[in-house]
Amino acid sequence: MIQKINSFEEYQSEYSKSVSNPEEFWAKQAETFQWKKKWNKTLEWNFDEPKVEWFKGGKLNITENCLDRHLEERGEKTAILWEPNEPNKPAIHITYNELHDRVCKFANVLKKNGGKKGDRICLYMPMVPELAIAVLACARIGAIHSVVFAGFSAKALAERINDSQCNILVTADGGFRGAKTIDLKTIADEALENCLSIKKSIILKRINSEVSMKQDRDVWLHDELASIDLSCDAEEMDAEDSLFILYTSGSTGQPKGVQHTIGGYMVYAEYSFKNVFQCEEDDIYWCTADIGWITGHSYIVYGPLLAGATTVMFEGVPTYPDAGRFWEVVEKHKVNLFYTAPTAIRALQACDIDFVNNYDLSSLRVLGSVGEPINVEAWEWYNEHIGKQNCPIVDTWWQTETGGMMISPLAGITELKPTYATLPLPGIQPCLVDADGEEIFGNDVEGNLCIKYPWPSMLRTLWGDHERCRQTYFSTYPGKYFTGDGCKRDADGMYRITGRVDDVINVSGHRMGTAEVENAINEHEAVIESAIVGYPHDIKGQGIYAYCIMETNKAVNDTTRKEILAKVTDIIGPIAKPDKIQFVPGLPKTRSGKIMRRILRKIAEGDTSNLGDTSTLLDPSVIETIKKGAI
Ligand code: PRX
Repeated sequence: MIQKINSFEEYQSEYSKSVSNPEEFWAKQAETFQWKKKWNKTLEWNFDEPKVEWFKGGKLNITENCLDRHLEERGEKTAILWEPNEPNKPAIHITYNELHDRVCKFANVLKKNGGKKGDRICLYMPMVPELAIAVLACARIGAIHSVVFAGFSAKALAERINDSQCNILVTADGGFRGAKTIDLKTIADEALENCLSIKKSIILKRINSEVSMKQDRDVWLHDELASIDLSCDAEEMDAEDSLFILYTSGSTGQPKGVQHTIGGYMVYAEYSFKNVFQCEEDDIYWCTADIGWITGHSYIVYGPLLAGATTVMFEGVPTYPDAGRFWEVVEKHKVNLFYTAPTAIRALQACDIDFVNNYDLSSLRVLGSVGEPINVEAWEWYNEHIGKQNCPIVDTWWQTETGGMMISPLAGITELKPTYATLPLPGIQPCLVDADGEEIFGNDVEGNLCIKYPWPSMLRTLWGDHERCRQTYFSTYPGKYFTGDGCKRDADGMYRITGRVDDVINVSGHRMGTAEVENAINEHEAVIESAIVGYPHDIKGQGIYAYCIMETNKAVNDTTRKEILAKVTDIIGPIAKPDKIQFVPGLPKTRSGKIMRRILRKIAEGDTSNLGDTSTLLDPSVIETIKKGAI
């Protein structure tokens, strides 16, 4: 198992080793895992194609590293501690032994239903243990999992299934989320009408609702499990075979299937998990994310299980049955390491402080933040009221594409600075570049954040579209991976992420492409054109402000707004609903037809004092009208 860094001096020396000889550095980490055959070459790469291969020729199965190798030493230790939506229902402790057996059985169910190495299997599930088990079962048989967040609509699900041609869908009759139940099977059925590649759908009974089962396609998971073999050998995989696809938003309307491979992802997931959280053997670790996002993949499932940790998995939401739920769970399970998103912190900060003070939070040792920039007020509230000024806050910057945490404090080891992700992890070589693509050296500088050397868990491609991968990440600044984020490096060399510099917005820590939301809005019959921008929002970090040009002969009112919201919910899901919709006669465009979002952003922010140079606009007068109608 990976040894963690224990002091700042050690961090410095490991960092410099990782830069002077990355291959030796990562080979040493990789050697701590269980391989069926050792690799021949640690790294082969160029960022032009791009081609990145780690531990080439190595053979392994990641589930042997998450499960089998722990059984002797910690077989009876809790691997997954599941906390249900309803606080009065019992939590479930699944030991490593039990998890191993359940993964093997599930893997056999997948095989029985036609699943095999290389297949893409879509998981559209609530936050129940079966989701984590299904993820690992795919990995056990060498199938590529594609988890789709259970808040996505039927159309969004179908688009993702079709893009990677999944042959099996694992879903549930429904799921509980706070006071709501979500009819996943109904949504899945609608999606599958347009998904010819799906041959079998395996359904978990979770909410006991009446569902229709399609003959020859749908099977109940409990029926399948009733008579299935317990043992399932782990498929031998190449280090560079794919582990999963995870769709995320980009600057076009089409979601991107970010593809990660097995060996490098595994090494970096455990390395980053252990070092950032400084996890100890008996710790209870809780990441509140959903497995539908990268945070859940890397830091609910793979990272903690690779490290042999106890990972809490929570079915519900922070405000159900009330705003004390997170803290009640921390007290109940004596959580030591707690990892959440700024949007959740801000939402809870807005509630009565008694929701916090009613609970004993003294078990907490490390707090984490992820997904968006954390504002100083939220940082301080988290530090004072949750950490009692006694828990380091690790503000972890990373992305779906990076697979693991890239810039972050190591808890208790490296220095903190509120709102700063601070320093790169060993093995990570960030740099800032200016508008001309020149690297900016020295400190107290600002620019676009790039990474100039490969790290093991970086994306390898976008499913079915390597050229888009090249263009999006490797062409803006040749020879470097471009993150899409702006960043500051202060006088002490600490990094602070300032937000996206592309057409992507971050709403409640969820990435959203402006074009994706605009396309959905444009599906409304009376909308001629729309433009989306982000604006500062107290809870969500960024809210969505939509400007819509409507057909002139149609009356527009609040009903039209509701219809537009319904359209977005239908096409993407409720997470993408605009917070504000303004009907406008036109949009500020350059003579070449490009929407000047900078101006729209300023108006949405309520800052119209200086809109900058508007002389290149096709019709500058439209700005006055938009300003007057701003919401
Ligand atoms: O803009 C950055 C922001 O979230 C983006 C990545 O989103 P996604 O792929 O959905 O992954 C989220 C979970 C890792 C980044 O490009 N972001 C993520 N973490 C931080 C952050 N911005 C500031 N500070 C962070 N700690």
